[in-house]
Amino acid sequence: MLVLAIETSCDETAAAVVRDGREILSSVVSSQVAIHAEYGGVVPEIASRKHLEMISPVITQALHEADTELSNIEGIAVTRGPGLNGALLVGVSAAKAIACARNIPFVGVHHIEGHLLAAHLEQQVEFPFLALVVSGGHTHIYHVQGFGRYRTLGRTLDDAAGEAFDKSAKIIGLEYPGGARIDDMARQGNAKAVQLPRPLLRDGSLNFSFSGLKTAMFQYIKKNPVVIPSSSANDLCASFQEAVCDVLVAKTEAALRQTGVRRLVVAGGVACNSGLRRHMAKLADRLGINLHIPSPVLCGDNAAMLAVPGNFYLEQGMFSEQTLDAVATWELDRVGEGFR
Ligand code: KG4
Ligand code: ZN
Repeated sequence: MLVLAIETSCDETAAAVVRDGREILSSVVSSQVAIHAEYGGVVPEIASRKHLEMISPVITQALHEADTELSNIEGIAVTRGPGLNGALLVGVSAAKAIACARNIPFVGVHHIEGHLLAAHLEQQVEFPFLALVVSGGHTHIYHVQGFGRYRTLGRTLDDAAGEAFDKSAKIIGLEYPGGARIDDMARQGNAKAVQLPRPLLRDGSLNFSFSGLKTAMFQYIKKNPVVIPSSSANDLCASFQEAVCDVLVAKTEAALRQTGVRRLVVAGGVACNSGLRRHMAKLADRLGINLHIPSPVLCGDNAAMLAVPGNFYLEQGMFSEQTLDAVATWELDRVGEGFR
């Protein structure tokens, strides 16, 4: 089955053509990051307008790069939520319009469902597995039993890991979104140089909290201003990254031990982080479990990842109706309710 996938939940307009939910024929991502950087974060109204401008060219390019045309597309997978309402509406409306015009089915997919199944595009990943999803809006541990069967085991109580990276980057003086810059600078820093808290490390739950870490960064910078570039800025980045990774690894290990599940997927934009990838590889080695982390290009927002669940649902005959709405908030555990 040839599926066209569309993603417009935040600040990336993306489209992909994927065969059988596995083979990526094209994956086009048009990022608005440079536009939002000026404002220090995503401006929802600007995001919607930019999606509207880019959605047709991005879909056209995805079809072109896949060397195919709309008449060959057999189904559409689109992010229904969660995300920015106005942004989501652009993708959902495009999917509905194409589905109606071509008389093909479409299905609304949960954005995080795409993230945690992205590894399937590159590797054989068997169910069940645990998934740590770390992105700009999510820091969640899920028990994944199959397509559409997800249970939240733990989640952040305040900031998401990506949000913590971006806010801390801003405190240091780096441009939004600073997660990748912190990663770069951390490579040259000493992770033991600055003492930072590990929030909720030993609270016995599988939940996370990153807002205190951000406050600690703020207080540290007030007392010890850093210039960029400098070795002290690199040390601070390395210490911050280590603190985040320590918590992510400890909670993931606890979840693996509690459930006895032997497969782990790490996904979402923060899964690009070199420190996290290294720490998770060590954890998997130590516990003797299978670890799947998608290539960096499939960790960040993209449309190809949506084609994995999308293809499955379409093949099962689970379609969305033309009345489908976009939803800004949507618990993954309730993914099966009312969208097909
Ligand atoms: O999954 P994603 O592309 O979008 C959301 O769904 O949120 O994740 C974006 C987040 C941003 O917070 C960004 O700073 C972070 O992922 N990120 C990183 C790295 N690359 C992207 N954080 C740490 N290290 C990186 N290398
Ligand atoms: Zn995402």
